[in-house]
Order: sequence, then structure tokens, then C-alpha cells
Amino acid sequence: MELEELRQRIKKDFENTKLNLQTLSELRAQYLGKKGPIQEMLLDMKNLPNEEKPKLGEKVNALKTLATELFEAKKKEIEERAIEEQLSKEKVDVTLPGKEINQGSIHVLTKVIEEVEDLFIGMGYEVKDGPEVEQDLYNFQYLNIPKGHPARAMQDTFYVDVDRLLRSQTSAVQARTMLEFGGNKDVRIICPGRAYRRDDDDATHSHEFTQIEGLVVNKDVTMAELKGTLTIMAKRLFGEDREIRLRPSYFPFTEPSIEVDVSCFKCHGKGCGLCKGTGWIEILGAGMVNNNVLEMCGYDPKVYQGFAFGVGAERIAMLKYGIEDIRSLYANDLRQNKQFK
Ligand code: DAH
Repeated sequence: MELEELRQRIKKDFENTKLNLQTLSELRAQYLGKKGPIQEMLLDMKNLPNEEKPKLGEKVNALKTLATELFEAKKKEIEERAIEEQLSKEKVDVTLPGKEINQGSIHVLTKVIEEVEDLFIGMGYEVKDGPEVEQDLYNFQYLNIPKGHPARAMQDTFYVDVDRLLRSQTSAVQARTMLEFGGNKDVRIICPGRAYRRDDDDATHSHEFTQIEGLVVNKDVTMAELKGTLTIMAKRLFGEDREIRLRPSYFPFTEPSIEVDVSCFKCHGKGCGLCKGTGWIEILGAGMVNNNVLEMCGYDPKVYQGFAFGVGAERIAMLKYGIEDIRSLYANDLRQNKQFK
């Protein structure tokens, strides 16, 4: 093959813009390999007269150098192009607006529970748990409400079978704890949790709700400590300048029993729509643990006494944050939740 023609072909082939690494290395094998035209020319030289050898040798070597350089240049070009393509594909546009990370918020009921837990843990209480499918025994009988007792009518209950029910009050945990503690250990617990009643749902009633139960049993606890404890709770939840008042009431598991009102935090006692003109808002039930309950649960009422209280977390949340419909607490509407970040 004519040397000049070969040179043109090598140039044209190596400068082809469509080459990739694979086809490029095939080209190198084709022109520079052992069976390629350049090698062939070098071998053929032995048949030439000696004086022509150097001249031709120089030309063929120049051609070999050219092919090698073209190969290297093209290889570099292809590799750089690949890197550039990758970089432009992966380019990060730092001027784009960031993606908003959706930060959750604590549900208002959880917030209330955590606030009450915090307060009572700080006063040496232990947080207890109990089952929501409860035995009639703990929900009623150990709490001085035997079968057929009229007080059962106060709590319309979902029964699972004759002996089991969805607990109608977290007070069930009182009996469980006293029995667990065995009649000779001091008790100081709160128990937040769900309770269930066959109520028709409306703005202020829900068949499923949340109570926080409190129980203290020891040898010298008095009603004064109950009042002090509830005052601290009312101030913590509704503001430092709150006061409470106690009204006599009836619960089978306490004697005496009281209902507790907090001074209205909206009108400060003058009377408004929230307190229905009385200046006071009812927040919970409480009392001194009934001797029958202590006795049934293994504590000697001549030695031990106790106080107990039960407060609705929904009621606290609604009063505190001006929530008008209890059902909105279970609707999972993020617009409500987001307000409590
Ligand atoms: N369990 C009562 C209820 O659901 C509330 C209650 C009242 C709990 C007095 C108590 C208590 O522990 O002493 O209506």
C-alpha cells in the first residue's frame, strides 16, 4: 500500500468522532498490531537494497509514531468526554430551593400526658400501665363496685364477655398496683391510658378517651396532701395564679369523695362563658381511698391510708387550648397537630 495513502487513512480513522474506547482499541490493533500494515512494511524492508532502508525506515517509523500519538490523543479525548458527561449529569444546582423536611409534632393529648407525667415523676411518682381489655374484677369489684351495684350505671361499659370488658376507667390500675405491691409497700403512681364507655359521641363525649389516674398509699398520707398535690397540678397545667376548690361528691372507691374545680383562667373568677358564669371549672374527681378498697387490695386500713384522683386528658387539652370538639382530637387533622410544635 502506498505510504501516503496509509497515512491519510490512519488520520481519517483515528479522528473519527464516533469512536469509543472499544472501537478505538480495535483500530490500534488493526494498524499497529503484529499483522498490521506498518509492521508488514517494516518486515518487507529486509528485501530492499541497503541504501534505501534508512529512508523508508524513517518514514514508516514516523507513521508508527503518528498512529500512536493519534491513538493516545483520541483516548484522552474520549475519557475526558465521559467524565464531563457524568459531571453534567450529576451536577447539583445549589440555587434550587431546598426540599422541606416534614417535621412531625407531638399530639396534643400526648403533650398533656407528658406534662402531667413530668410533674408527677418530679414528685417521686412511678408511671404505671394496665391492660385496656380488663377484668370486671379490677375495673369494678376491687374498687368497691360489686356486680349489680347501682354505681355501675354511672359508667356504661363495653363488655367482651361476662367477666371481661374494655376498661371504663384507669382506676382499674389502682387495684392491680396495690395487689402487686403486696399490702406492705408504699404506693405512689400515676397511670395514663385509654378508657372506653358506651357514650354517644358528640362535641364533649367520646366512647374512647384518655384518663390519668393517680394513687398514693402509705401510713400517713392525708387529704391535705391530696389538696396540695392537686393545687400544684392545676397551677402547672393552667397557670401559677390558679386556685382550686373542693366539692363533696360520690365515688364508690373513695370516702370522702370530692370533685375539684379550678379557678377560671379566662375571666379570673369574674364569670364568663367558659366557666358558665361561676368563675370555676370542674377538672377532676378524687378522694381518700375507701377502706373497703384498701382491704380488698391487701392493705390494712387501720395502718394504711391513701388518696386517689382521676383526670380526663381530653378535658385538660380542650380547656387549656380552647379546643371545642373532643372528636377533633381523634381526627388526625395535621392542621390541628401542627399548632402544637
Ligand atoms: N374513675 C373516675 C371516673 O372515671 C374518676 C375518679 C374519681 C378516679 C375519683 C379516682 C377517684 O381515682 O379517686 O369517673
